[in-house]
Amino acid sequence: MSFLTGFFAVFFYVATFIFIAFTGYKIVQYVRTPAPLKIPAMPAPLTQGGVVVRLIKEVVLFYSLFRSNKWIWLFGWVFHFSLFLVLLRHFRYFLDLSNPIWFWVPLIQPFGKYASFTMIIGLTGLLIRRIYVERHKYISSPSDYLHLILLLFIAFSGCMMTFVVHTDIVQLKAFIQGAITFGLTSTGWQPIPASPILFLHLTAVFLLMIVFPFSKLLHAPGVFFSPTRNQVDNAREKRHIAPWAAKLDATRQP
Ligand code: HEM
Ligand code: HEM
Repeated sequence: MSFLTGFFAVFFYVATFIFIAFTGYKIVQYVRTPAPLKIPAMPAPLTQGGVVVRLIKEVVLFYSLFRSNKWIWLFGWVFHFSLFLVLLRHFRYFLDLSNPIWFWVPLIQPFGKYASFTMIIGLTGLLIRRIYVERHKYISSPSDYLHLILLLFIAFSGCMMTFVVHTDIVQLKAFIQGAITFGLTSTGWQPIPASPILFLHLTAVFLLMIVFPFSKLLHAPGVFFSPTRNQVDNAREKRHIAPWAAKLDATRQP
């Protein structure tokens, strides 16, 4: 096995482990964090079904951002939706060629390919906002810029591979299959294609996976645990007692 194949295989394992273990840990923490008060942002849904609709609107349409600022919504939504299409297109690098490929993976390809441009447009808009809008610049920390720049770098290097300097996709798939099966299948370990732009793309992607659980990118799982978004407005019908307060109540003598 060449040095680069070994290096990227280890980098891949480390990044995947950190991403899954620490993001999982944060999610467990979110599940366990008490929400002692009823604080749904008004107007709030009156039923559990209403909460589901609210969360779907929030995650799919960025509804509350839309109501607060149309420009940020436009760039933010375009970036996230493009990222979603790009990631769906990426499934083809991880699927096993010997099994039938899910029907939607070929269908999504052209959309995912051109979504890289809209992803760059969305990210550039968000970066320009941080640099030129005085009140956003004032509250921006280095990590706010870092995430946007890292994502721009990933999108740009990806675009270069798709449209300018192609990399050997079949060989890349073989490398990934070798890595995710720990080289235990009959084909064993396969070398990573010798493509500097692919090395840059992968390095940036693995860095993003490593910073994910320690950064504001946790908003992706976090949105589902936000009490202002996931609570039912039924405080008048049902007394709200947080689970830890209920336990205290039970142990208290009358
Ligand atoms: C459930 C999925 C997600 C939802 C609902 C979501 C929603 C949002 C919203 C509403 C904003 C605020 C925009 C603003 O006011 O500035 C935002 C910002 C951001 N999101 Fe997400 N997001 C999701 C997943 C992700 C993922 C997977 C990534 C990247 C790996 C990502 C990267 C970012 C970045 C970098 C920003 C900051 C943009 C800036 O203000 O500079 N998001 N997201
Ligand atoms: C281990 C994970 C990843 C691998 C192996 C990978 C590999 C690749 C390859 C080989 C291409 C060129 C496609 C072609 O020539 O047709 C590409 C393109 C691209 N990648 Fe990745 N990538 C990974 C993760 C990501 C992530 C997490 C993002 C976004 C945050 C991303 C964003 C892009 C973009 C925007 C393009 C250009 C559009 C496209 O062809 O889909 N990649 N990637």
